[in-house]
Amino acid sequence: MAKKVGKAKPSNHKINLNELIYPIFVKEGRDIREKIASLPGIYRFSPDEAIREVTSCHDLGLNQFLVFGIPPQKEAIGSYAAFPDNVVSVCVRQLKALLPRAVISTDVCLCAYTDHGHCGVIPKGQQGIDHKKTLAALSAMALTHARAGADFVAPSAMAEGQVAAIRAALDTAGYRRTRIMGYSAKFASQFYGPFRQVADSAPRFGDREGYQIPVTETSRVEVEILADIREGADVVMVKPALAYLDVIARVKAVTSYPLAVYNVSGEYAMVKYGARLGYWDERKMVAEVLGAMKRAGADLIITYHAKDIAEWQAGKE
Ligand code: PBG
Repeated sequence: MAKKVGKAKPSNHKINLNELIYPIFVKEGRDIREKIASLPGIYRFSPDEAIREVTSCHDLGLNQFLVFGIPPQKEAIGSYAAFPDNVVSVCVRQLKALLPRAVISTDVCLCAYTDHGHCGVIPKGQQGIDHKKTLAALSAMALTHARAGADFVAPSAMAEGQVAAIRAALDTAGYRRTRIMGYSAKFASQFYGPFRQVADSAPRFGDREGYQIPVTETSRVEVEILADIREGADVVMVKPALAYLDVIARVKAVTSYPLAVYNVSGEYAMVKYGARLGYWDERKMVAEVLGAMKRAGADLIITYHAKDIAEWQAGKE
């Protein structure tokens, strides 16, 4: 008997919008909506435009956002990251005033803010990252975001003890209800390539293998995840997602904590550019890729595809 030729409409109905977190990049200014060549469909926004974007996403049914800041200047210790009125704080404050029920997370890392592009503080004349100063800088940055009203701060610097340090700083300042999403198992991945164009944050020398997990060391994952939970993380994360589905499944097996996965820039760019070249159907590809992440055990997916998915589900193209 001949098999039926499928004519099903591409559908993302298995992806639930409240499982998705949409990254938003903000820089100082007004009326800015800058394309990013490496990430088609993703922009750098000034706060006013970011508000417009988040509001339209919220109207489409997305409720969770992850805000990244792009500083006006970079220097050795990345001090802009903890300025009380930096662009992330301004944006978060306005977002929470306008959409109090939207869940706003902020990325807490120094690589976009330092002139050397590393995720921690390298004091003048020193070779390596100063661990104590890095924890202090990350804690100050997280506190700035908490004061602006962030629901979650998401430390991604992979500095040992960063979750505990941030938790202590938040508690001491009275922000017990600000939660922490730890980038617990973050690999030193090639898949971050397109992201580094966003804020020009590629390291100027060396690589990140001293603090991110080398891609061959997946055996460390359970230890890293459990350490973040012990330190006080409310949500744990595996990043990237697509090349680490086995890791996601393993994490799911050792904890019932909410598990986020980051469908990173390189994973997004592959899907987007392949679709543009006509190699595959974008909607079906997104459903296949994100479906695999869910099967592996993801509770939350941070993804640049979130707005497209919401538009597809709303019947807009
Ligand atoms: C900051 C940070 C990075 C990403 C998220 N937070 C870059 C990096 O570690 O180099 C990458 C996200 C992506 O590729 O989409 N440390």
